[in-house]
Amino acid sequence: MEYDNSSPERRNFLIRAGTLIGLGIAAATIPGLITSCQQNDNPISTNVKKEIDVTQYSELQNDFGAVKIKFDNMNGNMPVIVIRKSAGNYLALTSRCSHQGCEVGIPNSATHTITCPCHGSVYSEVNGSVISGPASQSLKQFPTSFDSATNILTITI
Ligand code: FES
Repeated sequence: MEYDNSSPERRNFLIRAGTLIGLGIAAATIPGLITSCQQNDNPISTNVKKEIDVTQYSELQNDFGAVKIKFDNMNGNMPVIVIRKSAGNYLALTSRCSHQGCEVGIPNSATHTITCPCHGSVYSEVNGSVISGPASQSLKQFPTSFDSATNILTITI
């Protein structure tokens, strides 16, 4: 059986059917995209001081060891990456990628890089700067201070 696609009724039917199929696919796909790209209402920086005892983290006992620590309702509900650069010298970075907000991975202590799994941006573990894009801005750094008498690292998030 052959259809005459030149008839206006048939053409309109095909257009409507295509539109409905397209809308169905979009409806099924868009919620997932919205969820994965959704920006968090939680501000990335609230100027709140958080303290950690660095002796409680085995990852922070060696230079360029790093750990992700999540503080409730801080940093957009994403972990803060704490990196020991040397004894008493720590760096705290957001784990939120500056490209589209995915959570970056834990630093690679061999290459001193931090990679975002979403689109492959690579940052320096030394200071959070961009090594390769698509990200164009560094990972945000949070100010830190370290008390060597108590081993308490204070991070201003
Ligand atoms: S969100 Fe990290 S590279 Fe795109």
